[in-house]
Amino acid sequence: MNASSSRSVLLVISGSIAACKSPDILRLLKMADIQTRCVLTQGGAKFVTPSTLQTLSDSPVAMDLFPSHETESTMQHITLARWADLVLVCPASAHLLARMAHGLADDLASTLLLATTAPIIAVPAMNTHMWEHPATQHNVTTLKQRGVHIVPPAYGFMACGETGFGRMPEPSVIVDEVLTFFRTQKQKTGPLAGVKVLVTAGPTHEPLDPIRYIANRSSGKQGYAIAEAFADQGALVTLVSGPVTIPPPAGVRVILCETARDMHKAVMTTCPYDIAICTAAVADWRPETQENQKIKKPDTPKTNTSAPYSLTLVENPDILAELSHPSPLRPRLVIGFAAETENLIPHAQAKLHRKGCDWLIANDVSPAHQVMGGDHNKIFLLSRHDNKIEAWDTLPKTDIACRLVHHVLTCESAWRSSSK
Ligand code: CTP
Repeated sequence: MNASSSRSVLLVISGSIAACKSPDILRLLKMADIQTRCVLTQGGAKFVTPSTLQTLSDSPVAMDLFPSHETESTMQHITLARWADLVLVCPASAHLLARMAHGLADDLASTLLLATTAPIIAVPAMNTHMWEHPATQHNVTTLKQRGVHIVPPAYGFMACGETGFGRMPEPSVIVDEVLTFFRTQKQKTGPLAGVKVLVTAGPTHEPLDPIRYIANRSSGKQGYAIAEAFADQGALVTLVSGPVTIPPPAGVRVILCETARDMHKAVMTTCPYDIAICTAAVADWRPETQENQKIKKPDTPKTNTSAPYSLTLVENPDILAELSHPSPLRPRLVIGFAAETENLIPHAQAKLHRKGCDWLIANDVSPAHQVMGGDHNKIFLLSRHDNKIEAWDTLPKTDIACRLVHHVLTCESAWRSSSK
């Protein structure tokens, strides 16, 4: 299940060596559940084949303004221009940028770029001197003034052997621009427009000394997926994350932190929120003292058995319990997670009432289930107000996230109609 499958991007690929990266862009757009179609210029076709693009976009690649086959429409420039929610010109060669700036319509790509009323993102990629040439810079300024969003080229080593600005940014950076565009649009029109959502995610690290810490195996994947799913429906999402290896999601405010106390501070200083989802595996305790220098082993002769080293731990603030506490600032919906390794439901029920949140999502994180660090999850959703327990099938974490958002939307509309 994905709530955002109606988004469509028309990828216009022009003649730059960076066109060879367009299959990666199509793959990432597909993974984000965005429909794609491709227009390939004659120059673009020197660097990537139509059949590769057709395979990845699941549709024929358009190349000609006046197709040779009678079955193909001569109005493709209009149908494609109307089909797209967004036109992504990537890579945008110096020549295509110039034709766009001057309103030329001498091939399919340039003609549909005149015909479309959809927003346009252009990603220039070319040799540094071509990029810095006053003619190109003038064309880029003209296009920006007309509302075309330009993703500036990156700095680095280029295929021509020079180093400088002109490289196409990595495909993930370009796809993040596309996702940010759609999420920003949804913040005006989506079902959760104007709703402030907090997601905590990942583990916390509790330092012992400058190089050691106490941590847990949380990857942050479930929390990050939930943050993205809420953003896809137009919510203003703040993701407060412990140390993870996942890149920050597009169109989401991300606050990175290390310890439970950092996470607590980040949450409390950014309140209030309408909805809070605490997925973070917050360390319950931290070492009472953090040494300024590396803790050394006692200098005892090897023959002696050294004495055990003991740590004193003190309790960390409980973010979920504090958010759930009745107060004028309490989010209207507080959702916690229960990571358990035994007696899942009884422990989760006790936790739900102890913390005072509205819903608790219980999952079994025993190593055998491979939930921590894995891509799938099996959850039970417990509701405090009606004592209901829903068992969900094992699903990818991204699908759990979409289903959770759908559940929130369903409940919110029921609450709205019952309070009328
Ligand atoms: N939580 C929190 N702050 C803490 C500890 C936990 O916000 N200091 C939140 C987690 O984000 C999660 C829920 O509380 O939503 C339950 O976390 P879990 O680790 O399962 O439970 P604990 O409260 O730590 O209880 P226990 O360790 O006894 O299972």
